[in-house]
Amino acid sequence: MIRESAEMRLENKRVLVVGASSGLGRESGLAIAREGARVGFAARRLERVEAAASEAGGACFALRCDVREEASCREVVAGAIERMGGLDALVYCPGISPFGPIEEIDQRAWLEVFSTNVIGFSLLMNAAIDELSANRGKVVVYSSISIDDSPPRPKQASYPISKIALERLIEAWQGEHRKVGFTSIANGDTLTEFGFGESMEKLIPIVQRWSELDYMYGRMMDVSSVAEQVVNALCSRETIRRIAITPHYPDVVETVDEMGQKAVETVRTGGKG
Ligand SMILES: NC(=O)c1ccc[n+]([C@@H]2O[C@H](COP(=O)([O-])OP(=O)(O)OC[C@H]3O[C@@H](n4cnc5c(N)ncnc54)[C@H](OP(=O)(O)O)[C@@H]3O)[C@@H](O)[C@H]2O)c1
Repeated sequence: MIRESAEMRLENKRVLVVGASSGLGRESGLAIAREGARVGFAARRLERVEAAASEAGGACFALRCDVREEASCREVVAGAIERMGGLDALVYCPGISPFGPIEEIDQRAWLEVFSTNVIGFSLLMNAAIDELSANRGKVVVYSSISIDDSPPRPKQASYPISKIALERLIEAWQGEHRKVGFTSIANGDTLTEFGFGESMEKLIPIVQRWSELDYMYGRMMDVSSVAEQVVNALCSRETIRRIAITPHYPDVVETVDEMGQKAVETVRTGGKG
């Protein structure tokens, strides 16, 4: 599976991808491995990251990690460093989003979103910063283009707020640690398992409303289009601070109702593990 050619741009690099069991994280890990890097795939669903590591081939491997647990963040970084003899890059992909009216987001839901989307990243960095600094390493985090929407998309309030916090957080890390290059990927809607925890009945009218308000771009991107930007950020000899990526102009113009329904249905049937 690993591409063997003189063109491999990440040969000998040691990369930990957290949130790599599905969607963008999984695809990012595979794309990084194709460039010759050794990749540790980490997430809560061990069997999923084992399958991803096996598909990547070479010396790639899997580790369990729940970013909501501080000990787990420490252990996954220590495990990756031990397995690879060091660490050159960290890619942070975990992201969750409750959907529904803002007044229904309770304390538990706020804490869950911030633990997963924001705080977990900083806990991993606490454990990884010395090694990444020593190696003049790179860090890439998945943000979201939805943070550029003003006002935020209705009925998804905690998500963009957490991603705004995440983007500010990596700036804070960059400010205190100049030897490491930090990149945020602000991507638009992409075909993954994102939102799978919600019922169709709840999601469809929300997505249809986003379409009416012109927040959507007419189609979902493929994971490979976005993952290649992670590779570009890691390969550049400079620090690319932010990459924003949205679908190119759609080939087919859909009606608003069709598009909202189609977006949800496409995610349900088209997402892959
Ligand atoms: N898809 C989109 O349209 C879109 C748009 C903009 C931004 N994004 C961002 O892209 C990133 C990747 O999302 P995706 O679309 O690929 O969704 P996904 O398919 O649902 O993947 C989410 C990943 O996060 C991991 N994760 C969730 N909670 C975790 C935890 N507590 N500890 C460790 N890992 C955890 C999941 O693994 P386990 O469940 O196995 O732990 C999974 O690997 C997210 O940050 C998301 O906000 C997505």
